[in-house]
Amino acid sequence: MDRIAIVGGARLNGSIPISGAKNSAIKLMAASLLTDEPLRLTNMPRLADTRFLGHLLTRLGTMVDDRDTETGPETILHTPEIVSSFAPYDLVRQMRASFNVLGPLIARTGHAKVSLPGGCTIGARPVDLHLQALEALGAKIDLHEGYVYATAPRGLQGAEITFPFVSVGATEHAMLAAVLAKGVTTLKVSACEPEIIDLADCLNKMGARVEGAGTPTITITGVDKLHGTTHAVITDRIEAGTYAVAAAMAGGEVRLTNTRADLIEALLQKIEEAGAEVERLNDGVIIRRNGARLKAVDVDTGVYPGFATDLQAQFMALMTLADGESVIRETIFENRFMHAPELARLGADITVSGGEARVKGVEKLEGAQVMATDLRASVSLVIAGLVASGETVVGRVYHLDRGFERLEEKLGACGANVRRIKGEPSADADFED
Ligand code: EPZ
Repeated sequence: MDRIAIVGGARLNGSIPISGAKNSAIKLMAASLLTDEPLRLTNMPRLADTRFLGHLLTRLGTMVDDRDTETGPETILHTPEIVSSFAPYDLVRQMRASFNVLGPLIARTGHAKVSLPGGCTIGARPVDLHLQALEALGAKIDLHEGYVYATAPRGLQGAEITFPFVSVGATEHAMLAAVLAKGVTTLKVSACEPEIIDLADCLNKMGARVEGAGTPTITITGVDKLHGTTHAVITDRIEAGTYAVAAAMAGGEVRLTNTRADLIEALLQKIEEAGAEVERLNDGVIIRRNGARLKAVDVDTGVYPGFATDLQAQFMALMTLADGESVIRETIFENRFMHAPELARLGADITVSGGEARVKGVEKLEGAQVMATDLRASVSLVIAGLVASGETVVGRVYHLDRGFERLEEKLGACGANVRRIKGEPSADADFED
């Protein structure tokens, strides 16, 4: 298994181009199942997760063509016919979002057999809201031996669905199914994340009629057929936020390009409160910090536009060296502090109790061997390694490769001393969020 070694101490100076969003790209890829015409996705991130979903889609009948063009990486997905409606456990277990093929498969073919994803390191992560939404749309759902058997022989029917609480995945899944349902679907208490708007924009370009995406009520008027289109994947706000934190941690001046400051406003405000400087630009953001110690600030994660849970681990790393005590509350996932004991190996002082972590700022971190436990946890260890004395070696880097494209190259271009130590591929490289 590969590892990442970081020698701490270098300031970051330079520019980092932000890639397309993983969490949008994988839903857009699933949307390609809804049409027999090609869907061309530009600004595609090249990640383990997108490759992974590509393998599953290929088994279902999609031709997946990754191209590097003058204007950047793109993927053309073309499913003239669904050749299989079966998503096996081994594929869904390794990437939970593979479960999102269920809705499009039912919508296009009237039946599907898709493995339940199971839990993952950050929480139990049930899919009950996904299944309830599909049932409300007229799918008959049976669960046997870890699989969802879904049928809708007469097609899906529009319905009014009120989610009991906000779920990004369930909102997206319901959208993916409802676009081809007969009649009108109303989704209430929908997620408002930017990736939902991106999915709606792409579906609308494919001929769907989705209104209200980005608000709690989404209305979808079903159409008979969707067609191909070209769509640019939205910028990855989590990648942008991660490098913003890295710059605030290491000091220096970093310009993040191909991104939007408004998508990470909750984080930027916390970075400013902590004492780093933020300059919002039309096409990105600049983060500056010169010397002075950061102040501890408190953070509660929340649904968009709140502070993203996917940036919590990174912000915790930032707070390990801040002056004072920071209280970080995780409100989305029940077990998302696995990075705390690893940060403690570097010298951080963190006490976790339930959904709350108290981070007492220390004077310095010291490099050590640490282990990634999930995607965002792994990058928090890299961020800590940027300022730890000596060398930090992060193991289980396959987690990181799922969501961060060319991380060593992007940080290295700004002066960080980060390198990959190649290892043997491991059969037990499980990953799932
Ligand atoms: C998406 O997960 C993202 N994943 C996550 O990013 C992100 O952390 C999360 O949204 C919140 O922003 C992808 O887009 C692939 P949810 P998702 O449904 O859709 C509970 C990363 O690091 N719930 O909004 O699975 C659930 O357990 C990943 O890139 C149910 O109870 O998140 C959680 O507590 C990690 N029943 C809460 O809702 C359901 O049927 C919110 O989850 C669905 C969810």
